[in-house]
Amino acid sequence: MITVIGAGKVGSAAAFDILRYKISDVVLIDTNEKQAQGEALDMMQAAPAIEFDGKIRGTSNFKEMAGSELVIVTAGLGRRPDMTRFDLMNTNAQIVKSVVKEVVKYAPDCKLMIVSNPVDIMTYISFRETGFPRSRLFGMGNILDTMRFRTYIANELNVSREDTRALVIGEHGDSMVPLVEYASVSGIPVTSLLTSEQIDKIVHLTVTSGADVIQLKGSTVYAPGTVIAITADAILTGRNRVMSVSTCLCGEYGFSGLSIGVPVVLGKEGVEKIIELELSEKTKEQFAKSVAIIKEAIAALKS
Ligand code: LAC
Repeated sequence: MITVIGAGKVGSAAAFDILRYKISDVVLIDTNEKQAQGEALDMMQAAPAIEFDGKIRGTSNFKEMAGSELVIVTAGLGRRPDMTRFDLMNTNAQIVKSVVKEVVKYAPDCKLMIVSNPVDIMTYISFRETGFPRSRLFGMGNILDTMRFRTYIANELNVSREDTRALVIGEHGDSMVPLVEYASVSGIPVTSLLTSEQIDKIVHLTVTSGADVIQLKGSTVYAPGTVIAITADAILTGRNRVMSVSTCLCGEYGFSGLSIGVPVVLGKEGVEKIIELELSEKTKEQFAKSVAIIKEAIAALKS
């Protein structure tokens, strides 16, 4: 069973994709009980068409998460067009703290996926608040950035999106680092297929991609929802997928005392392994800058 906390746009989209992909039963929790119940009822009415007999329940009762293998936290304010992910920090910190306390109480053995923004900070706060081992707790951010990176590589080359492979590391935010040196199309390095101007354009589009959607329609919904679902699938099925998630570093890449996006093996136990990549000097510098930005934000958190 999976619990999604937060029945807003992203949480509801994620819950629906978990059902559509037939991954698991879902409990959708929101302090606004009617909202949670309404979303669940709407999804249940789609279930015969999906041909899925899994259960979907909407509630405001945190107890109902008991027994969940995975809990996904999307609760908190979303970004408005005039905001950065950091503008949400102190408000969402209070919300996430109170929510993860409930997780410790009712689903102490779960894997915990944080989605609320700024996700790297919220993941680190949750790590401190829950005392969970870092393997069981991570933030979803860079997987989404990676999908966006792949989208723009495919668009530029007019090739199948499926054949694009890439990684983004660092902050899920303006200082993210799309790894051009590890991007390929069916194993062919993108550096041999694209000019440096084209690559710069793709990197720029990747960094601004979330904000570009928010400018147009006020929030991102489908991409985060679907990406949350495929990440959940990696855990429930134990497929050991290699993805970038926000994870607490203890010396890896030379840093500790923060959570930041790096590639990991994601399986039944959560973050089963952190992969330490060799990075170019330029990329190392960019990653260090991203670390500094996150650490500064952690230091600026109101206690
Ligand atoms: C985004 C939000 C979820 O990037 O951070 O779409």
